[in-house]
Amino acid sequence: MKLNVYCDKLEDLKCDAVVVFVEKDRVALRGLEAEVNKMVDNKVGEMLESKEFESKPDQFMYFHTFDKIKNIPRVALVGYSLEDDITLNSLRSSAAKVAKSLRNVGMKKIAMIMPNVRAWFMPDSARVIVEGALMGLYRFDKYVEKKYTKKLEEIVLVGEGKDRRTLEKAILLGEMEASGVMLARDVANEPGNVLTPKHFAGIAKRMMQKVKVGCNVLDEGDIKKEGLGLLYGVGKGSENPPQMVVMNYNAGKKYPTVAVVGKGITFDSGGVDLKVGTAAGPMFFNMKRDMAGAAAVLGMMYVVGQIKPKINIIGVLPLAENMPDGRSYKPGDILVSYSGKSVEIFQTDAEGRLVMADAMSYVQENYAVDYLLDVATLTGSAVLTCGPKMMGLFGNDSRLLERIKKAGVVAGEETMDFPLYDGYRQRIKSHFADIKNFSYKPPYMIASALFLREFVKEGTKWAHLDIASMVSSSGEGTYLTRGATGAGVRLLSHLVLGMGK
Ligand code: BES
Ligand code: MG
Ligand code: ZN
Repeated sequence: MKLNVYCDKLEDLKCDAVVVFVEKDRVALRGLEAEVNKMVDNKVGEMLESKEFESKPDQFMYFHTFDKIKNIPRVALVGYSLEDDITLNSLRSSAAKVAKSLRNVGMKKIAMIMPNVRAWFMPDSARVIVEGALMGLYRFDKYVEKKYTKKLEEIVLVGEGKDRRTLEKAILLGEMEASGVMLARDVANEPGNVLTPKHFAGIAKRMMQKVKVGCNVLDEGDIKKEGLGLLYGVGKGSENPPQMVVMNYNAGKKYPTVAVVGKGITFDSGGVDLKVGTAAGPMFFNMKRDMAGAAAVLGMMYVVGQIKPKINIIGVLPLAENMPDGRSYKPGDILVSYSGKSVEIFQTDAEGRLVMADAMSYVQENYAVDYLLDVATLTGSAVLTCGPKMMGLFGNDSRLLERIKKAGVVAGEETMDFPLYDGYRQRIKSHFADIKNFSYKPPYMIASALFLREFVKEGTKWAHLDIASMVSSSGEGTYLTRGATGAGVRLLSHLVLGMGK
């Protein structure tokens, strides 16, 4: 699909439909919106005034112009509201809604009049419209015989003459960011039988080659040799051996280095502590998406590789399948981590923190890391506490946390603060090893973050994001389509790009 800018006379614009975004409770039409309205004899204005069209969020309609506008046979209206939201997600949503709806009735080329959004600048609103439309148009039809045939071919952003450069830039940024989200969705939508750790590593290699970012893969032998005992232990029970991907984007020595680690459990059965009851149940298949953290990091690296910011970024993906087997690690086992700390296994289903811990130690040991971020579908309690619109946030540096929160608002992926409460540290004490991986007492989410903190080196500024609540969508939605959402890519991209300015 092509994206273009149009800043000339409306009379000369040719398309299947022109879209007007209308904010809730707004009646006055300005600028180009007013021009469109004039061309259809004030019909849009009348519909707004009479409340025939109320401009509720995602409310959508279109009508034919019966040659009132020479080259534009249809006008579409879509509502949005920023009332209850500090992000521009309503605009992302309406852009997705309108693009998808018009595609589904067979339109090929649509034009969107850029709205004037209060308190936000045009570069942001235009960018989120691009993002929203591209994310909403996403489909995963690789495995169905009847592929989707309806395809939108072009979206034109329409602005005033002075907006041209701004809109061109918004398209570039929006497209790059969306490409990272799509990549993350593509891998997270792959079923577990296809997306083994090895297959995932292959995709990472290929995609990093495309954007010229270094990518090195450690196989099971390397993992054992290097002493990544936790990752090795978790992966041991599977026919599909663990891998670890290290992606390295290098901007130069004078810039700081951010390491981002993503949990990549390609299927989480729970292991010997096989998931039962509600943890399994009808949603068990979603555990194929227990690699969504790794997918988010891959997506972010893909964005970074295209934008090339002035900051060094290392993406690390510990990949493994957590399965019950004669070779599996077991409750009571004691594993020695890469950092040298020994870990007593109390629960084989608390595998995420194990693979994350080793990858975090590895990157801090082998690179001069200033900032360490980790992204993981770590706990079921994050789903209950934060879901489905927020992710859990922990960290040891208030300035970094502030940055993450701000990036979350701009990216439309908001965070919920949690404390690294020392009073619960005893939860992960072990009598026979340095620590244990699970406590029978809640709060589980805090215990999991305290566990990870044990593997953060003194002086490293660190933040942990628990995205378990955000990675799957059970319905089609608007910009979050059914299945994998690509959660985390937008926040991470904005964060690291902001740090590299
Ligand atoms: N992958 C799960 C967490 C999860 C649950 C992600 C639901 C997405 C949706 C993780 O490995 C896990 O099993 N966590 C357990 C840990 C517990 C045994 C300490 C949990 O949170 O229930
Ligand atoms: Mg688990
Ligand atoms: Zn898991």
